[in-house]
Amino acid sequence: MSRIRILPEAVANKIAAGEVVERPASVVKELLENSLDAGANSIRVETEVGGKRMIRVIDDGHGMAHDDALLAFERHATSKLRSADDLLSISTLGFRGEALPTIAAVSRLLLETRDANEAEGTRVEFAGGKLINVKSAGLAPGTTISVADLFYCVPARRKFLKSDTTELGHIASLVTHYALANPGKQFVLTTPTQEIINCPPVEKLADRVYQLFGKQTLDELVEIPSVSADFRAAITEPEMEPGEESATLMVTGFTSRPEIQRPNRNGIYVFVNRRLVRDRLILHAIHEAYRNILPGNVFPATLLFLEMPYDEVDVNVHPAKIEVRFRRSQFVHDFARDAIRQALMSTRPIASFAAAATGNIAPNPVAPPASFAQGFTGGGENSGVPRTVIPHLEELGVGSGVGSDYAPGNGARPSPTGRRIFRVLRRMPRQLCRARSRLRT
Ligand SMILES: Nc1ncnc2c1ncn2[C@@H]1O[C@H](COP(=O)(O)OP(=O)(O)OP(=O)(O)O)[C@@H](O)[C@H]1O
Ligand SMILES: [Mg+2]
Repeated sequence: MSRIRILPEAVANKIAAGEVVERPASVVKELLENSLDAGANSIRVETEVGGKRMIRVIDDGHGMAHDDALLAFERHATSKLRSADDLLSISTLGFRGEALPTIAAVSRLLLETRDANEAEGTRVEFAGGKLINVKSAGLAPGTTISVADLFYCVPARRKFLKSDTTELGHIASLVTHYALANPGKQFVLTTPTQEIINCPPVEKLADRVYQLFGKQTLDELVEIPSVSADFRAAITEPEMEPGEESATLMVTGFTSRPEIQRPNRNGIYVFVNRRLVRDRLILHAIHEAYRNILPGNVFPATLLFLEMPYDEVDVNVHPAKIEVRFRRSQFVHDFARDAIRQALMSTRPIASFAAAATGNIAPNPVAPPASFAQGFTGGGENSGVPRTVIPHLEELGVGSGVGSDYAPGNGARPSPTGRRIFRVLRRMPRQLCRARSRLRT
């Protein structure tokens, strides 16, 4: 008798949910990304009980026609990908065609959507992956997805959820990140009693940072002015292919002044083509940029945005799409490091380094040694020419992932990848609350 059998669709969806939907914030992430991919300019996230009872994401994007509203819940149903070749240059945040069916498999989900070109909208209801109801409805253009009672049919998963406040914190962090990556769009996050985030559209990233964190945080940061350069092949990498020569890497963002010290990497956010990612290579580039500026066991706060042609980065390397692989990793690493260094240089006049080094002023625990100033002059900033071979992060004791995995003295501590990103984000809500109260007073 055969031992192997094909799993029913419902079971397969629940397994996929294990990878994609870990907690309420994962649902928010998928829904937010769908709204952004749908071209929404305004996204409202409503939560109840830390997202455990209800997550509702309302957008003004292009919506879905009746048939698409149903198709969207089939596994591997996506409007964002047509062939395997498309996988090589993904321009959307989503592409797997898995998020909606997996969320629907572990919750009670209501989709209300209307394509602006259609006379009326569609309302589709699922419970535990089963289609309960489909009907036409008079709706405004755009999409609203309500996810109630997450994991109600998977009690084992529900038990792993943390307190309502913690889960809400993860959601707030996530919305904060997407708001940072999209300053031109409005983001709102509410609970039944509070409006936690409300950022109307602004023109500049600096304005968005101010909206979210307040003046003090902005003052602690130095802008990394937008710099770009054509991709180059490192000696260890294959030659540039025809057409690739014109590919450009752009780096911009904010990074903390040398005197700012964080005990972990929770203040570091890296976005590649507006996708929030966790990337060891870029973390290492940031670490390198602060070499001799910060002691090894403290960290800066950095918001780093990298823009590059979609085929220079593989985003299809992690089920939750939070890890990426760069084609020209050495170039990306060095260019990001140099861009940050340049920005830091502009904040600290060389004279003060010399003074600190000769002992004329009181020692500052984070003052760089004299070699710091020299280090720059010989560097050929922004050259993009690889000068160093990147050591393994383990050698530096920074672990395999992001900062929160690493507590000074702990060394690397492996943990399931799906959990790391949320730990990184954990500090954000506290900052948000502080920033908000500062704005009020
Ligand atoms: N808010 C929305 N507005 C308009 N269309 C949407 C929205 N959310 C989902 N869709 C449509 O439903 C499809 C399925 O969504 P789903 O999130 O499951 O997959 P995906 O975004 O294509 O890929 P991924 O699984 O990587 O997120 C999308 O491709 C899109 O066409
Ligand atoms: Mg999606």
